[in-house]
Amino acid sequence: MPVQIWNPDVYQRHAGFVPTLGAPLLDLLAPQAGERILDLGCGDGALTLKLKDAGCQVFGIDSSEAQIAAARARGLEARVMDAHALPFNAEFDAVFSNAALHWMLQPRRVLAGVAAALKPGGRFVGEMGGAGNVASVIEAYRQEFATLGRELTDYNPWFFPDESTWANLLADSGFEVLALERFQRPTPLPGDVGDWLNLMTQTFLAAVEEPEQPALIGRLRESLRPTAQQADGSWSLDYVRLRFVARKRA
Ligand code: BEZ
Repeated sequence: MPVQIWNPDVYQRHAGFVPTLGAPLLDLLAPQAGERILDLGCGDGALTLKLKDAGCQVFGIDSSEAQIAAARARGLEARVMDAHALPFNAEFDAVFSNAALHWMLQPRRVLAGVAAALKPGGRFVGEMGGAGNVASVIEAYRQEFATLGRELTDYNPWFFPDESTWANLLADSGFEVLALERFQRPTPLPGDVGDWLNLMTQTFLAAVEEPEQPALIGRLRESLRPTAQQADGSWSLDYVRLRFVARKRA
């Protein structure tokens, strides 16, 4: 699988809505001052900072060095780490994760590490892409890849589970599921869908040589236009979210 590389400035410009729209998740977490919280896939720390401001001792991890540097620049305690190999042992009151779990393709390994990181009874509160997330984008790539003779699964970096798949994974990993919902959240983009494709779909784009990528983006853009471009010219994508609250069984 090709790699996805994050640039914090580009991320803020074209996906700055991710932490903004994830903010209601903080209410579900209901952080208490003094709690020790792990932010799994903290990105540049926009939401991590809110947990710190709420008086929590928060520790952010992310696979991207650049995003961790941006989180540290906000004064946060944060480290580059692979979420598939978490080293923690019963030290967090809660684990929080917004818009990150769907980039982790071995969820059982991640969930085992989250369960180990939590104190007994600790909370795991998160939001990720759910089944059907950006289906229009995936379908546009499916059509292009058919023409290119490429397999979509070789380039797809996303895991968008349905409710029962995620609930079963949580239960198998030692969690009691307290709440879980999947909902459509059509998401207006701050700019052109081409910029979003450039930022979010790097592994798919790697199926063609770099000089051919702008043309591929152009074709995808045309294929997305009928469903994703609004009457005023702006763009919106068919996001679907999976939001959950779970508790580690004591
Ligand atoms: C997200 O980070 O929310 C996201 C990632 C990939 C596709 C769509 C959404």
